[in-house]
Amino acid sequence: MITTQGISSSLSAQRELPIGLFDSGVGGMTVLRAMREQLPNESFLYLGDTARMPYGTKGVDTVKRYAMEAAAKLVERGIKLLVIACNTATAAALPDVQAAFPHIDVVGVVEPGAEAACRATKSGYIAVIATSGTIRGRAYERAILRRMPEARISALACPLFVSMVEDGLLEGPLAEALAARYLDQIFHDPREQGLEVPDTLVLACTHFPLLRNAIAHVAGEGVTLVDSAGFTARDVRNLLQEKHLARGAGPDVGMPLCPGSVRFLTTDDVPRFTRMGELFLGIPIAPCTVELVTL
Ligand code: DGL
Repeated sequence: MITTQGISSSLSAQRELPIGLFDSGVGGMTVLRAMREQLPNESFLYLGDTARMPYGTKGVDTVKRYAMEAAAKLVERGIKLLVIACNTATAAALPDVQAAFPHIDVVGVVEPGAEAACRATKSGYIAVIATSGTIRGRAYERAILRRMPEARISALACPLFVSMVEDGLLEGPLAEALAARYLDQIFHDPREQGLEVPDTLVLACTHFPLLRNAIAHVAGEGVTLVDSAGFTARDVRNLLQEKHLARGAGPDVGMPLCPGSVRFLTTDDVPRFTRMGELFLGIPIAPCTVELVTL
């Protein structure tokens, strides 16, 4: 028999667990950064599947398998909620991962990104840039049109942005040249012809916000850049509160894990992952907090 006391003590034990996040590499750290800001009392366990990135150029069944394996690794370590901090994996596998782990909430990044876009646009003309996998699946178009049926959407795959970010090449002439190569057809060329351009650009890959300056420069004035991170963190905060799983607000302050602590799992090259993590999160990462794992 489960007593009320049993239920509440298992809830407090669950509350102490970290939030799990995964991405193919370091891109999901843009989501982790927003979550650390909005959920300062929580701990996080982040998995970057760097050995198998990029996900965006792979077929949907392969991405599904990778996402399942990454999710299983995090669940096995003990997490209270899972964030798929990768648009490609969210688009390919969110319902499958939710069905495979029904005892925890699994949150994706596509719906929050679509929400951010619909709130930002005034003209209703939205551009979406993402990996080839995300664009092919049309997940963003569906999510935007569900909220705003009159929206006009230009969707474009920009796969090379991912390797650029993983190499730490975030600004400067090379980043801007690549951004122009992709984005001129949406912004520069129509402007030259006196045509309307989108007023909102969704960075629909969690790697892309790291190239924000180069992308904004090429998109030009009057274009608002949005991404999933802030709204994903907001959704997670609301969900944890609803489920009484938010940490640090109740009698269990003074918990064993430090609030805001982050641990990392990576499938390849720990020193490189640590270096990039420090760069993207802006916090020192102790080597003992990064573990090499096989999926
Ligand atoms: N950061 C991921 C996304 O949001 C995937 C990048 C990749 O591995 O291709 O789509």
